[in-house]
Amino acid sequence: MKPIILDVDTGVDDSLAIAYAAHSPELRLLGLTTCFGNVSVEEATRNSLYVLEQLGREDVPVHAGAGKPFFRHNFKGYAKHVHGEDGLGGALGDAMPKGKAAPLGASRFMVEQARQLPGELTIIAVGPLTNLALAVMMDPDFASLVGRVVIMGGAVTVPGNVTGQAEANILSDPEAAEFVFRSGLPITMVGLDVTMKTLLPRSRLREWRDKDTKLSRFLADAADFYIDFYERANPGIGGCALHDPLAVGVVIDPTFCRTEEMHVQVDTEGLLSTGRTIADRRAKPAHPPNAKVCLEVDADRFLAHFMSRVV
Ligand code: RIB
Ligand code: CA
Repeated sequence: MKPIILDVDTGVDDSLAIAYAAHSPELRLLGLTTCFGNVSVEEATRNSLYVLEQLGREDVPVHAGAGKPFFRHNFKGYAKHVHGEDGLGGALGDAMPKGKAAPLGASRFMVEQARQLPGELTIIAVGPLTNLALAVMMDPDFASLVGRVVIMGGAVTVPGNVTGQAEANILSDPEAAEFVFRSGLPITMVGLDVTMKTLLPRSRLREWRDKDTKLSRFLADAADFYIDFYERANPGIGGCALHDPLAVGVVIDPTFCRTEEMHVQVDTEGLLSTGRTIADRRAKPAHPPNAKVCLEVDADRFLAHFMSRVV
């Protein structure tokens, strides 16, 4: 079993990723760490606790992390139009989790786990990269102790999803993302290049509705809201992107995606392209690679696997 930490800004697709990870015997879910992003960090923590309770996984601790970006303290980018006022597509309703966040902060938890499991820990980061950047700052050995970091974020060959250039997780904290890409962490980037090809069609929600469990109804309600947004924003797309679940998927089975090694930088100052992930794709790039970038995905095989596990 691979020991993992899932760093989330819970969100609908984060919830699906949590369910997928929690139900995958290949993974040992050490804890969730939370960040601002789709919602505030307090809401992301509440939602994470709630999702774990729906999964019967109250044993998994939730460590709260960054409430704002590294430098841009006037962040106003919550994605409630995508994920709903509660971040769960309205599926939370009036409910509240019974549990509370663990006392240790997110970045400190990452640092401690990396020290306890040198070379073994995988961190799957599916929100802004602030917690990860703070962990790198906290411990000079962190980058060499972590076995692997899988980031859902960025776009190398396709447009952004918040601006024409930038993807949401990177744009939410471009300086943290740039710091992480420069850190020496062993990064796999699962960006929009592959996640926008990995769709959950509304028709598949029927399977969850037919199961008619509390969990399956909850996830179907949340996903319905999320699909509404995707269909408004991308007419004819035929479903919602499984961004965060795909990052979990490539840890379970790396053959879901084909990767290429590249040197990736984040534009932190662009007039029109702040938050853009820029890869040097020349035959002789100026710098050695700092990431394995996913460029192609076996979307059908991934979706079948995801559906077999999530509820
Ligand atoms: O751009 C998609 C990403 O932004 C996903 O991680 C989604 O949950 C949001 O955080
Ligand atoms: Ca997310």
